[in-house]
Amino acid sequence: MTNEQITSFEQINTAAELGGGEKAIAKQKNAGKLTARERIKRLLDPDTFVEIDKLVIHKCTNFNMDAQHIPGDGIVSGYGKINDRLVYVYAYDFTVYGGSLSRTNASKIVKVQRLAVKNGAPIIALNDSGGARIQEGVMALSGYSDIFYNNIKASGVVPQISAILGPCAGGACYSPALTDFIFMVKKKSHMFITGPDVVKSVTHEEVSKEELGGADTHAGKSGVTHFVGDTEDEVLEMIRELLTFLPSNNMEDVPLASTNDSIHRECPEIANLIPSDPNIPYDMKTVIWEVVDDHYFFEVMSSFAQNILIGFARMNGQTVGIIANQPAYLAGVLDIDASDKAARFIRFCDCFDIPLITFEDVPGFLPGCEQEHNGIIRHGAKIVYAYVEATVPKITLITRKAYGGAYIVMSSKESGSDVNLAYPSAEIAVMGAAGAVNILYRSASKEEKAKALKEYNDTFSNPYRAAENGYIDEIILPKDTRFKLIQALEMTQNKVENNPHKKHGNMPL
Ligand code: HXC
Repeated sequence: MTNEQITSFEQINTAAELGGGEKAIAKQKNAGKLTARERIKRLLDPDTFVEIDKLVIHKCTNFNMDAQHIPGDGIVSGYGKINDRLVYVYAYDFTVYGGSLSRTNASKIVKVQRLAVKNGAPIIALNDSGGARIQEGVMALSGYSDIFYNNIKASGVVPQISAILGPCAGGACYSPALTDFIFMVKKKSHMFITGPDVVKSVTHEEVSKEELGGADTHAGKSGVTHFVGDTEDEVLEMIRELLTFLPSNNMEDVPLASTNDSIHRECPEIANLIPSDPNIPYDMKTVIWEVVDDHYFFEVMSSFAQNILIGFARMNGQTVGIIANQPAYLAGVLDIDASDKAARFIRFCDCFDIPLITFEDVPGFLPGCEQEHNGIIRHGAKIVYAYVEATVPKITLITRKAYGGAYIVMSSKESGSDVNLAYPSAEIAVMGAAGAVNILYRSASKEEKAKALKEYNDTFSNPYRAAENGYIDEIILPKDTRFKLIQALEMTQNKVENNPHKKHGNMPL
């Protein structure tokens, strides 16, 4: 090899690594954002990134575009490692035509999407883009179609993660929406189908882009995003952590994590955490923290539909998906958002063979016109659909209330749960005692009502009727919760259950 060849190799690579050039990089920095390459470097284990298609150029000739070729175009893509496990990654380079999607960029993305599926590894997209490259017209639109197609084909095969690290407008939102988890950065990320200007001209609403599609909006109101970080670095670190809970693909197990937390550790605090008066709230997270390995719960969608909790934890080193009613928020009632949040998480865990543990304390579905008119019937049905469809180990613990339809949908025995446990304080009934007596004894005297209340409490405000009928497998003391749940997980670890053969079910959407 000649020195000239080596020099030109180095020059070509250096030019490609500059993306849109020094000026555009300076603009990116001034906006408080990292460059695409810096992001990938910080996301991956040191020195593991292998770039693919670094020298590919766009093919557009419209609007004098053939005079401007930037090696690699607007995507940096390839593979590397996170915690020593293979991942695929692509990052939009905002310094090249605002990270807009050209046909070339789309083909680069599709190449890594296909590699990820073929080789069974997660794929991570770092988004920062002005949407379809305007100069390319339908060629850019076809690129999005290709990406969405591959997102959908990869769904349930490998974990797909999207970080929104800048603008994400128009159809560009749909690739992240088709992935399993979305991360956003406070004040830096924005996602919307149409921006504030279009909103104003169509609906006459005046709204800032932060209010319309900032991180807080999507974390708390729309439920579009699953995680929010204060900085890009924090988001990248959270992605690394999320992956520790996940398998690389749907055929592999999650690697066991090491823990010094004994499986026999008692949880005496739980008895004090749950008030005996069913009308007094408590924070279900404090119960979860008591039970799981090292008291660590990695919560997902912590700001959305806070009446239900979802997230990952470990039990004896094994990843579990946790779904829990949250009595500290709206008394843990089930509503439309809580149903959507739980159902999607249950389905994610089932795709990737992650056992489900349900902590239940639920007074029922939220009544009212707003809920009924927006389809609580349709949305609430998603939870029971997702639980029944899931063939992973399913373990339910009733800590206090399990009333009415909510008892049924929150992974009851009859809806296919494998192990159903309850504390002695559990109340399994059609509704709470006061409500039931008011219906059955509307015109009775005060004394008769008090008598009926006592009879109702003696009959239903406990788990014993359910246990007598085998709907609860075992009534346990709170202090034994950790060990009992680990025993249930061990008992079900080789579970085999197949749904009837079908193309796919018809989940209420
Ligand atoms: C080509 C684009 C571009 C685009 C930005 N640029 N968006 N080039 N196609 N879509 C270029 C700009 O011309 C500019 O080039 C450079 O990128 C940086 O953009 P700025 O506007 O200077 O940056 P900033 O002020 O930070 O604003 C970023 C922005 C804005 C909010 C993203 O650029 C913008 O609104 N872009 C258009 C967004 C949009 O409507 N996209 C189409 C969505 S519809 P120079 O040379 O000046 O540096 C869509 C259809 C997909 O995507 C459908 C799929 C189903």
